[in-house]
Amino acid sequence: MANNHAIHGNYHGYYAKRPVATDERLAVLPSNIFQGCRVLDIGCNEGWLTCDIAQNRGATFVVGVDIDDSLIQGAWRRRRAIWSMQGPTSGHTELVDTDPSPPTKKRKKNDTQDKDEEAAHVASATPLSGYFPASCEHELGPLPIPPSTRRGKTVFPHNIAFRTADWVTTTIVDDAEGYNVVLALSVSKWIHLNDGDEGIKTFFKRVYGVLQPGGRFVFEPQPWESYAKARRMDPKLKENASKLTLRPNDFTALLQELGFKLEKCYNEVGEGGFKRSIEVYLRL
Ligand SMILES: C[S@@+](CC[C@H](N)C(=O)[O-])C[C@H]1O[C@@H](n2cnc3c(N)ncnc32)[C@H](O)[C@@H]1O
Repeated sequence: MANNHAIHGNYHGYYAKRPVATDERLAVLPSNIFQGCRVLDIGCNEGWLTCDIAQNRGATFVVGVDIDDSLIQGAWRRRRAIWSMQGPTSGHTELVDTDPSPPTKKRKKNDTQDKDEEAAHVASATPLSGYFPASCEHELGPLPIPPSTRRGKTVFPHNIAFRTADWVTTTIVDDAEGYNVVLALSVSKWIHLNDGDEGIKTFFKRVYGVLQPGGRFVFEPQPWESYAKARRMDPKLKENASKLTLRPNDFTALLQELGFKLEKCYNEVGEGGFKRSIEVYLRL
């Protein structure tokens, strides 16, 4: 979807503005919220958060969906890049000494230290994300991804997929099995502006429908004031906006009517223009 006006919020280079390495939105959530879960990330953009959840937060399967296919292609590239930077784990333990020089005293000491660190890490079976610098991939190309039979389907990079779809109107193949956690971060404004009050209601109903009972909806609605800039972006959005009667402040009541319970609200997460609430709803 080549679009000079990002009328769906389908910004390219979004994560250059909103660096994920320090993304506070995931950091405020309980550390085990994704543990052992099937997760859907709606409006995943280039998949930086999606990859973080799949790689570092214990999710067994994570799917990112976005309306813009070029962003989804970028998300698949992100998966490969993150994989190329990941350090060895118990699923990938071969410690191969590729330095052909004879061991000097200094090198011996460093080797021992490195191997101790690596052994401790392997024992914990937690991948070291960002172990190799990004420049390795830039200079040498991405690392090949081993077959899932070797590492397991519930472990990064096999526990992640990306799909192109307008998720308000289209189901994706993964929806059938349902999810334990659904994320909708900074996407409700775009759905509301493009699809109107009925569109946002349909969206909430669909989220409810794909969540397992006891599952969680992690929601970051954009405030009404932020709609003004988006309205100016495109005449169609302006026209749609003039017909809206719902406001983001009404969303909690709508979700409660559907059978969600507001479990937790984290206020003022993020910085500058991105300072917003993160709401966690329990699907009863
Ligand atoms: C502002 S970005 C937010 C990206 C990401 N969720 C985050 O907060 O880091 C909004 C994303 O939602 C996507 N999007 C908008 N409407 C959508 C829809 N109906 N279905 C799927 N994706 C959608 C856009 O293409 C864009 O990538």
